Amino acid sequence: MQLSDIKTVGVVGGGTMGFGIAINFALWGYSTIISDLSDEVLAGTEAQIAGALELFVEGGLICGRQAEETRARITTTTDLAQLAGQSDFVTEVIIERLPDKQALFSQLDQLCPPHTIFASNTSRLVLSDIGAGIGRQDKLVLTHYFAPPHIVPGVEVAKGPGASEETFELTCELLSSARKIPIRLYKEKSGYLLNRIQAAIWEEATQLWAEGMASAEDIELGIISTFGFRMPHEGPFLHYDVAGIWKWPEDVRNPQAIENEKLREQMLKGEPWFLDPATFDEAVEKRDREYIRRLKELYWKDEV
Ligand SMILES: NC(=O)c1ccc[n+]([C@@H]2O[C@H](COP(=O)([O-])OP(=O)(O)OC[C@H]3O[C@@H](n4cnc5c(N)ncnc54)[C@H](O)[C@@H]3O)[C@@H](O)[C@H]2O)c1
Repeated sequence: MQLSDIKTVGVVGGGTMGFGIAINFALWGYSTIISDLSDEVLAGTEAQIAGALELFVEGGLICGRQAEETRARITTTTDLAQLAGQSDFVTEVIIERLPDKQALFSQLDQLCPPHTIFASNTSRLVLSDIGAGIGRQDKLVLTHYFAPPHIVPGVEVAKGPGASEETFELTCELLSSARKIPIRLYKEKSGYLLNRIQAAIWEEATQLWAEGMASAEDIELGIISTFGFRMPHEGPFLHYDVAGIWKWPEDVRNPQAIENEKLREQMLKGEPWFLDPATFDEAVEKRDREYIRRLKELYWKDEV
């Protein structure tokens, strides 16, 4: 199957995440069908879609005509068979409960045409468990969005235990065609990659709050105004580079104390991860220009 063969996308579950995931596909031309358990829930899903598109228009992302066309590409149903029969790619966005997700994928496996790819938006479960009972192991992937999914660009993508390279790449292509940024993962693990990193921050922040280190307000403000301020431009690896940590003397970097062999080897090199040492100063200047632009936009807007 190629990207051009994906015409209709199914989204099972029209809740907090499902409505926004549906918007992504519909906005970029895919006929999109959402299923949920009741007409009542689906009425709420439709209202959320309308509200989100209004904000897109208000924010100048799209025009009113595009909003209308997007809405017209989305249909809803309580009949899973109707969704399954039409969908070339289905995203599961239902409750985070293993037996429910397993039952859904078994049903979809019976109802969908053989070419249909199955994706799960699970946060903590793994595909080996969710899709254990289904036949199409080569067509099972994770697409993990971040709330609000119609706005946040990055989406984690991982293969199920038997998923083909073709399924993986096609899923990444599909997401890119909907202007999402696929983040390719090589392994499955509960919480996958980014939720684990996010959870580490949450755990440390809440623990320190419980120990009375600072108020919740100051922890929040501290994160937003320090490393959070930098984050639109740099993650931990680029930070290692631009902060010049790779240039520190070896005893200060202390790579020998690192247990993981692969990481120790990398740190022993005393080289940046990404940057060319020859253009280090330029990279730092580029970073500072970007930070100054954001400092003005976010904090100093009334000063000059
Ligand atoms: N909320 C988040 O920030 C977030 C972020 C990333 C991933 N996720 C994951 O996305 C999934 C959905 O989360 P959510 O926050 O949208 O939940 P939600 O409760 O808001 O929505 C789930 C929807 O699925 C429907 N549903 C439940 N069982 C169903 C079934 N068998 N068939 C059809 N519809 C069914 C429910 O009626 C509900 O509308 C979960 O796996 C969650 O872990 C959530």
